[in-house]
Amino acid sequence: MHRVSVAVGASGYDITIGDGALAALPDVLARHCPAVRYAIIADSTVAGLYGEVVRAAVATVGPCDFFTFPAGEWNKTRAQWETLTDAMGAAGTGRDGAVITLGGGVTGDLGGFVASTYRRGIPYVQLPTSLLAMVDSAIGGKTGVDTPQGKNLVGAFHQPRAVIADVAFLRTLPAPHVRAGLAEAVKHGAIADAALFHRIGALHTAILDGRPEALEEIVAQSVGIKARVVGRDPLEGGARAILNFGHTVGHALETVSGYALLHGEALAIGMVVEATLGTAMGITREGTAAALRDSLQALDLPTTMPDTTPADLLAVMAHDKKARGGTVKFALLKEIGQAAQSPDREWTFSAPPELVENVLTH
Ligand SMILES: NC(=O)c1ccc[n+]([C@@H]2O[C@H](COP(=O)([O-])OP(=O)(O)OC[C@H]3O[C@@H](n4cnc5c(N)ncnc54)[C@H](O)[C@@H]3O)[C@@H](O)[C@H]2O)c1
Ligand SMILES: [Zn+2]
Repeated sequence: MHRVSVAVGASGYDITIGDGALAALPDVLARHCPAVRYAIIADSTVAGLYGEVVRAAVATVGPCDFFTFPAGEWNKTRAQWETLTDAMGAAGTGRDGAVITLGGGVTGDLGGFVASTYRRGIPYVQLPTSLLAMVDSAIGGKTGVDTPQGKNLVGAFHQPRAVIADVAFLRTLPAPHVRAGLAEAVKHGAIADAALFHRIGALHTAILDGRPEALEEIVAQSVGIKARVVGRDPLEGGARAILNFGHTVGHALETVSGYALLHGEALAIGMVVEATLGTAMGITREGTAAALRDSLQALDLPTTMPDTTPADLLAVMAHDKKARGGTVKFALLKEIGQAAQSPDREWTFSAPPELVENVLTH
């Protein structure tokens, strides 16, 4: 069992990671998230798999209600937020209640947003069940829903009281989702920890075979990095931007593919492209893109551009840029294990448009 602390807010919070870590839930709730009534929120798939075992564990601590919504990113909406908050109101969840999110990143984001707004904010605990949620989305306090204009456009920062990542949940996670989560772990190694990056390479067979001790090690290391970055910059004022490595191109690919590519798959390609871009700009050490490509290919992740035209991708990036009121920015690597910082101490870089077009073409 591993424990990682996130130093955010008055007291911070702990992430418990392990094969069977769910057993810690009653104690974690009693100590860090006491409530008169618990609202467990899960999507339809995860509710069917783990709803009963989690409900039974929570019931040892206090009364609880179980709320589900249909699985899928397209349900991370204000409409589901409305349905859930109405149901909690009808069930009698009060200001002294608390939320438990049980599921992947969609459930964590939606359920966390419910917790952040219900009765002006009640506490919550995250029980991530996808690898992506364990290594990334369950940590850091970003909650929210999608709108017709794009992903995560309505939301709030709301830190959980605790996170329990039980890698036993991953036994039922479909293989493409395991690989997609691994892309974020590779990213964490690439931006902050060369040893993790190489360890993922060394363990790739055990990881893809779903060996719990390999998964536990990679999740724990990866969580440690996210926790450190978030602890330094909880509201994304500066250094947290390095978590966006690979994401400028990745998001554009995800959008252009109409979400046929999973987020982690788009990220894998995005990291290789952005490492190539960084080298072309004289920022990223030569050979970095190749190292990323080798590592990602060993994990069966895509690394080459799908059949899209650079113009489509550039249009999406320009649209995002407009939304941020500036230029297209990239978080870049210095080398494997280290994010690049500009001479004026910025963590993101503007790239000449013709260079971007060039790396998108090759
Ligand atoms: N808040 C953040 O900081 C942050 C960071 C990264 C991503 N995200 C968000 O996370 C979401 C993606 O997360 P995701 O990939 O976990 O998606 P998801 O929650 O939709 O889960 C993927 C699929 O796997 C299923 N599933 C989850 N756990 C399972 C298990 N143990 N066994 C079987 N099936 C299981 C789900 O039902 C779903 O169908 C996106 O909405 C993204 O915006 C948020
Ligand atoms: Zn991501």
